[in-house]
Amino acid sequence: MSNDTGLSNDTGLCNDTGLCNGTGMKKDIGMKKDSKITRIAVLVSGGGTNLQALIDAERSGLLKSGHICLVVSNNKDAYALQRAEKAGIASAVVLLSECGRQQSVFEDRLLSVLREHEADMIVLAGFMSILTERFISAYRNRIINVHPSLIPSFCGKGYYGLHVHEAALEYGVKVSGATVHFVNEIPDGGRIILQKAVAVRSGDTPEILQKRIMEQAEWKILPRAAEKVAAMIASGKLPE
Ligand code: GAR
Repeated sequence: MSNDTGLSNDTGLCNDTGLCNGTGMKKDIGMKKDSKITRIAVLVSGGGTNLQALIDAERSGLLKSGHICLVVSNNKDAYALQRAEKAGIASAVVLLSECGRQQSVFEDRLLSVLREHEADMIVLAGFMSILTERFISAYRNRIINVHPSLIPSFCGKGYYGLHVHEAALEYGVKVSGATVHFVNEIPDGGRIILQKAVAVRSGDTPEILQKRIMEQAEWKILPRAAEKVAAMIASGKLPE
């Protein structure tokens, strides 16, 4: 990871008003389209530490079969947008509020931005919106998500961000962790790609547990899972 470790509730505001006007888009100054490299779009809503882990993985060569060509946020103030900007990655903001709060219009706009950037694969990295079947079927087996628990515990509708860790601590589990999985129509219900367990310690607060799970699990398994799926797509060996 880089030194920049702001967590998901990082409220750093975007200073670049051109970027954050709801339709603003930056040019992709990265690699050119290459048939052997999977073009990855990362969808975010908040701090973007998982996005940062992916950026760092591409820089270090761990993520070698994929290139992050685009970051899309459904929150104009997401600090993740600044991370994209610093890394020279194209970004776009698509807001439900600018789509008459209609999910179908929102998803159509997302799809059109993704197609414009010729994205082959999507990583949901702290993207706080549940996508419908229509969207998912356009990228069948090409969407992965990172979730901050060991699925099937503490997952599904209503389990996101700090709520997951609150529920885990409330239940009294001694082990939690993170999961990266394919995205299907069931929230957090797609096939598991990678998981990593993390010990819960006495005295943990949701924030402390969230940070430990990010550091020890999410930031490690998300780039590895992204490489795995990007390599499958690049070699034409998509799962059924
Ligand atoms: C991460 O903990 C991620 O697993 C979680 O939100 C956080 C985003 O942090 N995602 C979910 O809860 C999805 N159900 P980030 O913006 O710093 O990557």
